[in-house]
Amino acid sequence: MSRILITSALPYINGIKHLGNLVGSQLPADLFARYCRARGHEVLFLCATDEHGTPAELAAAKAEMPVAEYCAQMHRVQARMAAGFRLSFDHFGRSSSPQNHRLTQYFAGRLADNGYIDEVSERQVYSLADGRFLPDRYIEGTCPNCGYDKARGDQCENCTKQLDPTDLINPRSAISGSTDLEIRETTHLFLRQQSLKYELDAWIDSKADWPILTTSIAKKWLHDGDGLQDRGITRDLNWGIPVKRGDQDWPGMEGKVFYVWFDAPIEYIACAAEWAEAQGKDEEDWWRWWRTDAGAENVRYVQFMGKDNVPFHTLSFPATMLGSRDPWKLVDYIKSFNYLNYDGGQFSTSQGRGIFQDQALEILPADYWRWWLLSNAPESSDSEFTWEKFQTGVNKDLADVLGNFVSRVTKFCRTKFGEEVPEGGELTEGGARLVADLTARLAAYTGHLEAIEVRKAAAELRAMWVAGNEFLQTAAPWSTIKTDRDRAAADTRLALNLIRVYAVISAPFLPDAAAKLLEAMRSDETGWPEDIGRALQVLPPLHGFVVPETLFAKITDEEREGWAEKFSGQR
Ligand code: 2FM
Ligand code: ZN
Repeated sequence: MSRILITSALPYINGIKHLGNLVGSQLPADLFARYCRARGHEVLFLCATDEHGTPAELAAAKAEMPVAEYCAQMHRVQARMAAGFRLSFDHFGRSSSPQNHRLTQYFAGRLADNGYIDEVSERQVYSLADGRFLPDRYIEGTCPNCGYDKARGDQCENCTKQLDPTDLINPRSAISGSTDLEIRETTHLFLRQQSLKYELDAWIDSKADWPILTTSIAKKWLHDGDGLQDRGITRDLNWGIPVKRGDQDWPGMEGKVFYVWFDAPIEYIACAAEWAEAQGKDEEDWWRWWRTDAGAENVRYVQFMGKDNVPFHTLSFPATMLGSRDPWKLVDYIKSFNYLNYDGGQFSTSQGRGIFQDQALEILPADYWRWWLLSNAPESSDSEFTWEKFQTGVNKDLADVLGNFVSRVTKFCRTKFGEEVPEGGELTEGGARLVADLTARLAAYTGHLEAIEVRKAAAELRAMWVAGNEFLQTAAPWSTIKTDRDRAAADTRLALNLIRVYAVISAPFLPDAAAKLLEAMRSDETGWPEDIGRALQVLPPLHGFVVPETLFAKITDEEREGWAEKFSGQR
C-alpha cells in the first residue's frame, strides 16, 4: 500500500465549467483516485476553486455582485456540480481561504529571504477610460507569437505562450473595449525564475517517465526563444491575496495583491491544510502529505491538467517551491491533456459555447458523461465531442454491451432458476476460456490505469464487457438448459459472478452503475480482483440477487437531434 496525493487543476471561479474543463483534469483525476483507492492505497485527492485575478473580478462585475459574495456562491455551485459528476475529492477548497493567504505570503517571504524576488519598476498598461491599470486578462489583443486576435494579457489560448500584457499587438481593454490606453510606471515583485533555470532543467530531466505532452511543453518554455523569463507575481487589483512578506507588511507594495498564478498552485498545499481543519486533524496530518521532512518522502504526487496549464506546473510553481528552500514535496508525475472540441469548434466559457456541467447533468446521469468523456479523453491529440459520437458511444458501449449483458443474464436466471445463483455443474470449457481471456485483459487494464492511459484503459474495460457477451452468446444457456441443466447452471453462475466483477472493475469509470450492480447482486465484496478465476466464484450457489432496473437507456435519434439543436448556439 502506498500513499498517493492527487490534485486536479483548480477550476476558475468565473462560472460553471464546460465538459472540456471536466475531461481535461477533474474527471481523469477522479478516475485515478478511485482506482488507487480500489487498490487499497491511501489517497488524498484535492481540488479547489481558483478565485483570484481578473476572471473572478470580471465575472462578479457581470453578475453585479461583490466579488467575495460571488466567489462564495460560485464555490457552492461548483461543489454541487462536482458532486453531481461524482468527483470524489477528499476536499474541495478555495484559493481565497485563510490558509492560502497565510501560505502564499509565507512563500513570498521565503523567496525574498533567499534572494529570488526582485522589486521592479515596471511599465504597465493604464486605461484612461476605465481609470485603472489593466493587468493580464483585462487586456485583449493579438498574440505576437501566433497572431491569434483574442489573446489575453497573461497567456495566448491558441498557442499557450505565456504573455505579458504589454506584449500584445493592438491591445484593448476587456472591460470597456477602449483602446485609449497608456503605459505608466508601477513597482512589482518578480520571481527570479531564470536563476532557477538549471535546477528546473535538471529536475525535468529526472522525469523520464513523464508524458511527452508534458515534457515537450516544459522544455519548450525553458529553452525556446527567450527561454524562461522572470515573472511578475503581483498585480494592481483589489481582489486577491494582499502582498506581504510572511506576516510582515511589504513597503512599497501597499494596495497590491499577488498574481493569481502565484497563489493558485500554492492552494494545492493550502487545500490540504483546509482538509485537515475540516476533518479536525492537525498540522502534522497534512504535512505528512506535503513535507518531505514529515513523511511526504513516501508519497507519490500526481497532478492532472490541461496543456495550457503545463508551463505553470512545470516551471513557475516548482520554481516557487524550490526557491523557498523548504522541503516541500514536488510533483512526481504530471498527466496533461489536449483539448476537447465541440462540434467543429472550441468549447469556450467566455463565449458560452458547448455543453456546461449543469446542462449535461440535467439531460443525463453522470455515468453517461463520465464514460463518453473518459473513453474519448483528448490524450494524444485533441478530440471532438459531437452528438452523433456521443449517442453511438453511449448506446453501443453502455446500453448494448454492458447493460445488455446484465439484463440478459439476470432475466434469464430469474426465469429458469429463480433469483438466486444456480447450483450444479462445473466450470465449462467456454467458461475456462473466458477466465483466461479476462485474466490477460484485466492485467492490461490494470497496467493502463497504473500508467494513467485513460483511453486505453476504457478500451480494455469495454473489451472485457464484450468478452462477457461473446461468452454468453456462445454458451447459450437458454439452449443448453434443454438438454444439460448443470451446464446451463454453471455458465449462468459464471455470468452472474461476472456482473459483480464488472461492477468492481468498472467503478472508477461508472461509480453509480457499479453501486447499482453491487446492490442488485447483493454483494459488498469490492476488492480489486487479483485472480479472476477466484473472483468469479465470490457469489456462491444459492446466493440471492435481484434483476436490476435498466442500467443505461439508449439515446434516441429524437433526443440527439433535440440536444444538438438546443446546445448549438451560445449559452
Ligand atoms: O486554467 C485554469 O483553469 C486555472 N484556473 C488552473 C489553475 S491550476 C492551479 F495552479 F491552481
Ligand atoms: Zn499565440
